[in-house]
Amino acid sequence: MEQPDAKNVELSREIGELKEKRRAVILAHFYQRPEVQDVADFVGDSLQLAQQAAATDAEVIVFCGVYFMAESAKILSPDKTVLLPELEAGCPLADMAAAEAVRARKEEMPGCTVVTYVNSSAAVKAESDIVCTSSNALKVISSLPEDKPILFVPDGNLGNYVSRMTGRTLTLWDGYCHVHNRLTSEEIKAARAEHPGAPVVVHPECRPEVIDLADHVASTGGMLKYVRNSQASSFIIGTEQGMLYPLRKACPDKNFYPAARHMLCPNMKLTTLEKVKWALVDMEPRIEVDPEIRLKARRALARMLELS
Ligand code: 13P
Ligand code: SF4
Repeated sequence: MEQPDAKNVELSREIGELKEKRRAVILAHFYQRPEVQDVADFVGDSLQLAQQAAATDAEVIVFCGVYFMAESAKILSPDKTVLLPELEAGCPLADMAAAEAVRARKEEMPGCTVVTYVNSSAAVKAESDIVCTSSNALKVISSLPEDKPILFVPDGNLGNYVSRMTGRTLTLWDGYCHVHNRLTSEEIKAARAEHPGAPVVVHPECRPEVIDLADHVASTGGMLKYVRNSQASSFIIGTEQGMLYPLRKACPDKNFYPAARHMLCPNMKLTTLEKVKWALVDMEPRIEVDPEIRLKARRALARMLELS
C-alpha cells in the first residue's frame, strides 16, 4: 500500500482537530479517494451510510460522497448540520428522474407502489412509497403486496436484476449509471481470460448480460463481505475503481483486478482532503431540504430502514 504524502498527513491532522472542535462525524462512501476514506469515522455503502447518518449523535455530519447521499443524511437527521465538501458532486443517475416525470408516470399507473433507488433526489423520494439501496432491493421488493403494480425508479439495470431475482414484474424507469452501464460482457470475458479462476463480482447497476456472467452480484458493502468470506485468492471487480482500496485494505493477501479500467465516477473523486478541511472551517456548503419534501421523503426512507 502507498505511503501517505506529507501534505495529506498534515491535512488529516488538521481535520482531526477541527472534527473534535465541531463535534463532527465524517462519513465516506467506498468510492471516495483513499486519503478521504482514511480520514473518515465510517466508510460504507449507501445503506450503511444512511444508517450511520440516522444514528449518529454528532452535531455535524461531513458527507464525503455525492449529493443524494448528503441529502438523505439531512432528511434522516434534520437537526444536524450536514456538510457536503463539494457541492458539485452529483449523481447523473439520480438526475435521470425528475419529480414531475415520476408524478406523471404514477398517474398512468393508478394504485401503483413506487420503489425508488436511493440514488435519487429528495423530491423524487417524496413521490415514493419506499426507498431501496442496492444491498436491500431484493428484500424491499419481496416485502411488497403482490396485487399492486410496482414502478421502479430510476435505475433500469438494478430494477431488471431485482425483477429477475424475485420473479416480480416491475415497470422500469430507463435511467442508468454511466459508470456501470459502460461495462461490457466482452470486457468480463477478457478479464476472466487474463485472471483464470478469479471470481467475477459485479454491482447490480451493471447491464443484464454482464450480470449473467458474474459469480456474485452485490452492493459495495456486499462485495466486501463476499471477498472476506471467500476462499478464493483473486477477484475481478466490476464496480467503480475506488472500491479496490477498501477491498485491498480489508484483505491485503488477496488480489483484486478491475473488470475494466474505465470504471471511474468523476463525481465521487471531487471530494479532496482540502475540501473536507475547509468545509469544517467554514461550516459550508450545507445541505438543506424543503420541510414538506423532507417529511414525505423521510417516510419512504424510514420504511426502508425499518426493513433493514
Ligand atoms: P452502493 O450502495 O452499493 O454503495 O452503491 C452506491 C452507488 O452509487 C453505486 O454506483
Ligand atoms: Fe451515481 Fe454511478 Fe457515480 Fe454511483 S457510480 S454515484 S450511481 S454516477
